[in-house]
Amino acid sequence: MRVRKARLQDATDIYELVNSLSHDGTLLRRVFAEICENVRDFTVAESDAGAFLGCGALHLYGPHLAEVRSIVVKPEAKGQGVGGRLLAALLEESEEHGIGCVCLFTRIPEFFFRHGFREVTERAALPDKIYKDCQNCPRLFRCDEVAMARGQVPRVSILGTRAEAEQLVQIGA
Ligand SMILES: CC(C)(COP(=O)(O)OP(=O)(O)OC[C@H]1O[C@@H](n2cnc3c(N)ncnc32)[C@H](O)[C@@H]1OP(=O)(O)O)[C@@H](O)C(=O)NCCC(=O)NCCS
Repeated sequence: MRVRKARLQDATDIYELVNSLSHDGTLLRRVFAEICENVRDFTVAESDAGAFLGCGALHLYGPHLAEVRSIVVKPEAKGQGVGGRLLAALLEESEEHGIGCVCLFTRIPEFFFRHGFREVTERAALPDKIYKDCQNCPRLFRCDEVAMARGQVPRVSILGTRAEAEQLVQIGA
């Protein structure tokens, strides 16, 4: 198995796998154009024979914060270390960019605990994530995901302030 940066030729495999798990909210739905536009965020895993096994993306907010998104392994390849290898590659990429904190929202915190992530009890402590995704999410006020971060949660944000994010999260709560 090997892990490498995605190419545009991987976009269809990524699109199909990510959206196969978007119906129940496990992953955010991504349209094909969005996958293509952001394909350079993605890392993929493939078998020695070149078969697509899974993917994950690192979204850069800025020098203060990145986010692991759309990490998923094909059902038949689970439990063989593929997800762990993908996550390690994304974390290495964030380090190459000198980013101090990587965040994510998940329903399976146990998997990420073992890779150094810790729970962030106040979602509004990650205003950039709230403004990028949560504000348009139908589950904003009944979010069942755990916010997590690896590294120190930054005090700065670029898409909105923490105070504004707190207000947004509290409206309707
Ligand atoms: C989460 C996921 C990417 C892990 O990929 P993987 O290749 O199976 O992971 P690895 O083989 O590297 O690691 C397996 C370990 O993670 C644990 N793990 C895997 N899925 C888990 C889950 N849903 N909940 C808790 N732990 C989990 C396994 O128990 C296993 O532990 P073990 O080594 O002690 O047996 C994969 O299960 C997946 O695609 N899940 C559906 C998509 C998803 O939920 N993505 C996360 C969105 S934030």
